[in-house]
Amino acid sequence: MATIRDVARLAGVSISTVSRVLNKSGYVNIETEREVNKAIQMLKYEPSDVARGLTNKKTRTIALILPDIVNPFFPELSRAVEDVARTSGYTVIFGNSDGQANKEKAYINILKQKYISGIIFASHNLNRNDVEYLEKIDIPFVVLDRAPSQEGCTVVRSNNFEGAKLAVQHLLDAGCNKIAHIYGPQEINTAKDRLIGYEESVKNFKWYSPTLMVPGNFKLDGGMNAAHVLMERHPDVDGIFVGNDLMAVGALKTLLRLGINVPNQIAICGFDGIHLAEAVEPELTTIAQPIYEMGVLAADLLIKKIEGAEVDNRIYELEVKLVPRASTTKCI
Ligand code: RIB
Repeated sequence: MATIRDVARLAGVSISTVSRVLNKSGYVNIETEREVNKAIQMLKYEPSDVARGLTNKKTRTIALILPDIVNPFFPELSRAVEDVARTSGYTVIFGNSDGQANKEKAYINILKQKYISGIIFASHNLNRNDVEYLEKIDIPFVVLDRAPSQEGCTVVRSNNFEGAKLAVQHLLDAGCNKIAHIYGPQEINTAKDRLIGYEESVKNFKWYSPTLMVPGNFKLDGGMNAAHVLMERHPDVDGIFVGNDLMAVGALKTLLRLGINVPNQIAICGFDGIHLAEAVEPELTTIAQPIYEMGVLAADLLIKKIEGAEVDNRIYELEVKLVPRASTTKCI
């Protein structure tokens, strides 16, 4: 018995296009519709339960593939995606890729079998082949936060470069005279843009040296270890811009264990705006990303794509904001 996949293959279109013709919703050009109906008649195709599900949009499911849901940045992002999806009648399934390309590719193939409606990736790995493959199998997708370097994707992210400059300027305004940077993994564009923003802001100061930049891993332990390295290299540093809040909490922990007073000896500014930044003592100054808004926009754009509306394949960049707290308020 012919399947929806046979119809799609004979008509030279994707499964989602066949389901749009079957349920007469979403955009399908007249020529394509004619080809699909011709294939249905030639194959004497009758929608199976799954296809009927597709036809009636019962499989209205969006996948959200994140690096690691354990990092507190991602749950708020996920909440926003799910809130929007639910109001539009879609369910959301989550997956952790650990930032690994092979896991992301495996997810794409599994989700294709499950007639997924669309995918939101937080991925720096997606390459030209992945993008072409997703287009070929007609699975609409949006890249959120971490994005591949090449063109042709719909990307929602915050302005990491300007956010880094904002952090450095705030530390200077707080009275810091020598500012270091603990950065995230440089294969991730968000970390890379923040490092570039830091360098752009400090490169002309006479105290600047590349050794003021210390690698971290976007995790608590990475911040703790990097702070140790930094104190050995530059014990006279009096300000640190940290590439995300989780590492900033780690750095704070190390400095306090070394008996260093934050902020009076060393001021610290993080990046993300996760709730944990308010739970530590002193409370952490941060560059807050519009996390919830990013998730809402990504879900909105994806649902528009799924339902056949025209969506610009471009970068949608949202502004960040400084949230000053005790970790940069020196007692003058
Ligand atoms: O904390 C996780 C980091 O990875 C965040 O800064 C976010 O931008 C993501 O890229």
